[in-house]
Amino acid sequence: MVDRSPGVGPTTPFFLYGLRSVTEAAARAAWEWIGRGDKERGDRAAVEAMRTALNRLPFDGVVVIGEGEKDAAPELYKGEKVGSEHSAAKYDVAVDPVEGTTYLAKGLTNAMAVIALAPRGTMLDPGPCFYMEKFAAVSAARDAIDPAWPTARKLERLAEVLGKPVSQLTVFVLEKPRHKRLVEEIHAVGARVALYPAGDVAGAIMAAMGGGGIDALMGTGGTPEGIISACAIRALGGTFWGRLDPQLTTEKAKVREAGLSTERWFRLEELVMSPDVLFCATGITTGLLFDGVEHDGRHYRTQTLMLSGMTGERQLLTSWLPIPASERGM
Ligand code: FBP
Repeated sequence: MVDRSPGVGPTTPFFLYGLRSVTEAAARAAWEWIGRGDKERGDRAAVEAMRTALNRLPFDGVVVIGEGEKDAAPELYKGEKVGSEHSAAKYDVAVDPVEGTTYLAKGLTNAMAVIALAPRGTMLDPGPCFYMEKFAAVSAARDAIDPAWPTARKLERLAEVLGKPVSQLTVFVLEKPRHKRLVEEIHAVGARVALYPAGDVAGAIMAAMGGGGIDALMGTGGTPEGIISACAIRALGGTFWGRLDPQLTTEKAKVREAGLSTERWFRLEELVMSPDVLFCATGITTGLLFDGVEHDGRHYRTQTLMLSGMTGERQLLTSWLPIPASERGM
C-alpha cells in the first residue's frame, strides 16, 4: 500500500526534524570511537546507526552517494534502498556517516555525520570519478566568476564582489600535495589560505554562508563530498561549481572509458537538479560549523545544522538525548 498521508512527506518541516535523528544517531555512535585510532570501526558504527535511523523514516530512498558498490553489509552502499518502499515520496539519498574519518580516529576537530536528500533522479551520478575540483563562495559570486579563470582573476573578482581587499580573503584548501601550486597562487595574489587536512564539506558550507572567516573553497576533494556540498548549498543559497578531476591512474582510465568530460565545470543546478533538497549534519567532534557530541554520563548533547531548500529554513538545533540506564552501566 502506498502511503499518501499528508504532513510527513520529505518537503515538510516535520520530515526535516525527523531527518536530523539520522545524523544524530550516526554522530552518537561515532562518539565512542573518537581518538581511538580506528577509523574503520568508527565509520562502521556510524553507518549501522545511520541505516537503522533511516529505515524508520516515512520515505522511499535510494542511496546514490554512499560508501561504494559493496555487496556485503554493513556499508550504506550505492543502490541500497532505505526508508519504506511503500511511500510515495521517492528520494535520492547522499550520505557520509563520518565526514573526516581521520579527524575521528585522531580525536581532532571537524568530524561530522552528514545526509542530503533530493527528489529521485535529481543528483548527478559522477560514475567512476572519485575526485572533483570545487569552487564555493557566497551567492553574489555566482554570475560574477567563471570557475575556469586563473586563480588570481577569480580571487580579485571575488574581493570586488565581497567589497574587501584581496588581502583580506581567506580560502579554504585541503592540505594535499596536489594543491602546492594552488596555494602558491593564492599567496601570490595576497590572500590567506586556511589549510585543513580533511573535511571540505564544512569548507564549502562556510564559504557559501559567508561571514564566518572563510570566503571561498578551492581545490580538489572527493566527488561524493562535492555532491553533498552541492545539496547543502542548493538549500542554503550560494555559489558552487564542480569539475570531475580524477587523480588515480585507474580512476582516470575509467573516467576516460565512460566518456566523461574532465574539462567541464558543472553548475549547482546540474549537480543537484531540484531545489527541493534537505540536508542535515551533526558534529561528531567540535568544528567550524557546530559543537561535537558531548556526553555527561546522563545525556548525549549534539548539535545539528538543518537546511531545507523548499522552505529556505536554516536551523542549528541542540539536542539532549537521555542515555538509557543499560548504557550507563546501571
Ligand atoms: P573521509 O571522511 O573519507 O576521511 O574524507 C574526508 C575528506 O577530506 C573529504 O572532506 C574530502 O573531500 C576528501 O576526503 C579528499 O580525499 P583525499 O583525502 O583522498 O584527498
